[in-house]
Amino acid sequence: MSRRIDLLGVDELAEGEMRMVWVEQTDPVLVVHVNGEFHALQGTCSHEYFELDRGFLTAGTLTCALHLSRFDLTDGEPLDPPAELPLAVYPVDVVDGRVTIEVADGPLEVNEEA
Ligand code: FES
Repeated sequence: MSRRIDLLGVDELAEGEMRMVWVEQTDPVLVVHVNGEFHALQGTCSHEYFELDRGFLTAGTLTCALHLSRFDLTDGEPLDPPAELPLAVYPVDVVDGRVTIEVADGPLEVNEEA
């Protein structure tokens, strides 16, 4: 079984920006709008618990502000150390002007080293 989660409206997040959305007020999902596309990734770093909306976006990548690992926005793969695990990436569908993800029932998948 899967569930669709409504994150935000397409007009709520400008090109080149990102925003943390707290699903059910407990699970952080980072929504990123770049190159006309929306991405949704786990909201905390895979290296240590650190909220990624405090990082920065560069050319299709997201840099964690704590230890500066860079991640690919498309597949979540780490491009620079110290992070070794990819960020979980949630499949995005834009439905009726809303950015949504479809995920398995239960807790959101999150990759974390510690
Ligand atoms: S917490 Fe993100 S790179 Fe260390």
